[in-house]
Amino acid sequence: MGAGYVGGPTMAVIAHNCPNLQVTVVDVNNDKISRWNDPDISKIPVFEPGLENIVKETRFKNLHFSTNFEEGIRKADIIFISVNTPTKEKGVGAGHASDLRFVESSARLVGKYSQGHTIVVEKSTVPIRTAATIMSILDSIKDSQDKKTFDVLSNPEFLAEGTAINDLQCPDRVLIGGNNSHAIDALERIYLNWVDKEKIIRTNLWSSELSKLSANAFLAQRVSSINATAELCEVTGADINEVAYAIGKDRRIGSNFLKAGPGFGGSCFTKDILNLVYLCEYFGLIEASKYWKQVITINNHQKNRISKVIADKLFGTLTEKKIAVLGFSFKSNTNDTRQSPAIRICKNLLEEGAYLAIHDPKVSKSQIAIDLGCQEINDQNKNNDFNKWEFFEKIEDAVHSADAVVILCDWECYKKLDWRDISNIMRSPSWLFDTRDVVNIKSLKDLDLNLWKLGIG
Ligand code: NAD
Ligand code: UGA
Repeated sequence: MGAGYVGGPTMAVIAHNCPNLQVTVVDVNNDKISRWNDPDISKIPVFEPGLENIVKETRFKNLHFSTNFEEGIRKADIIFISVNTPTKEKGVGAGHASDLRFVESSARLVGKYSQGHTIVVEKSTVPIRTAATIMSILDSIKDSQDKKTFDVLSNPEFLAEGTAINDLQCPDRVLIGGNNSHAIDALERIYLNWVDKEKIIRTNLWSSELSKLSANAFLAQRVSSINATAELCEVTGADINEVAYAIGKDRRIGSNFLKAGPGFGGSCFTKDILNLVYLCEYFGLIEASKYWKQVITINNHQKNRISKVIADKLFGTLTEKKIAVLGFSFKSNTNDTRQSPAIRICKNLLEEGAYLAIHDPKVSKSQIAIDLGCQEINDQNKNNDFNKWEFFEKIEDAVHSADAVVILCDWECYKKLDWRDISNIMRSPSWLFDTRDVVNIKSLKDLDLNLWKLGIG
């Protein structure tokens, strides 16, 4: 249940590795399901390297996308709940706690349409003890006459966007939490089709649920740690890449997740830490909650300080200045913009009066309009404040006569740019702000282009 960034790729990989299983993905969003079924494979709603090939091989054979909940659930022996679990916007815990309404409605549908014994798997990231909520919903719905029975397992997903297919195909571990070993065995048997047994971790339900939230919090905390260090590098003459390399060489620390950048984005880090903060507060662990909150504080600071650096370098005023923004997704190799640092940074620059020329290889103009909360500039709205942005499909058009270029994502196409050509068509004095370590400083030697690189003093 749920044909999003997790449900789509995860079920495609299961279908690919288990040709004798029939996998059906159901979603309440008709448009999304039509796109998954579109004969033109490039129209599927999730962009992930390698996904199109897997979907092409399995779709309409043992992988199906449907809005027919009744049939999908009735026929299923195992149901993965992969629906969204956003932060609650109102009521108790608003701004921190998870909104479990989609998980709840999924459980109700399972209770209504299932037949015989069904294993319900939490794939979504949920607060600790959600499995108990799902079980009590299922128990309350099942009719004693129709002999429905359920097991609930926790099987959190650890894929990262942009590398989802590889992460699913070669996971570091598969975590299964539950209290019925037969149910755990059944789920394990699916993974054993392509994952080594040693990589499958079996725990109790609550450890599994909490491990997922904590893993994301640890990862996000590393990004905030390296970003805080980058700021110190800038004022002291140190180089964040050298510092990160030296730190990462310590085997106890390791080199992953030490890349300074414009702040972490994505649908999950912020929401999962907020959820952890809420859980700590709920259980009266105030110091622990403050500790995790600080990871988000640093992340927000990172986004805001980047737009401030840009304004400062451009003589404190951005009115009438053209700034080319390269990269709008929250990281490269995905079309996902949820919580992308580009959103906050662009909004700040628009508020300062800048005209933004935005480029991204995979994000659509309509998505950017939704994220910025305003339409692209046109003849009708050109006198409004705060909407002076345009989307460009060609990088050359975005950077033409710009006062500054800001790199917010390390898409491959930005690594190959010829800065000599670009500096020739920009307006002087021109600036390049590199927040993703894309540009080689040496390649700019002798060019009429000022460079600011994040984390370099
Ligand atoms: P998403 O928004 O891309 O997809 C969720 C889908 O669920 C949507 O298409 C929505 O229409 C559908 N949905 C909502 N209610 C439904 C219902 N009752 N029945 C069927 N479908 C329903 O979200 P996502 O990024 O796939 O994330 C899903 C969960 O997985 C979240 O809990 C998230 O924290 C977790 N997660 C996400 C990632 C990631 O990289 N995106 C990685 C690991 C875990
Ligand atoms: C993250 C986790 O890595 C996954 O394990 C987890 O399953 C997923 O969240 C989830 O639960 O949703 P994802 O958000 O897709 O995956 O991507 P990451 O590679 O973790 O990047 C998150 C953000 O941190 C991006 O904005 C990225 O640019 C930033 N980041 C990451 C850095 O700035 N520096 C780094 O060294 C690593």
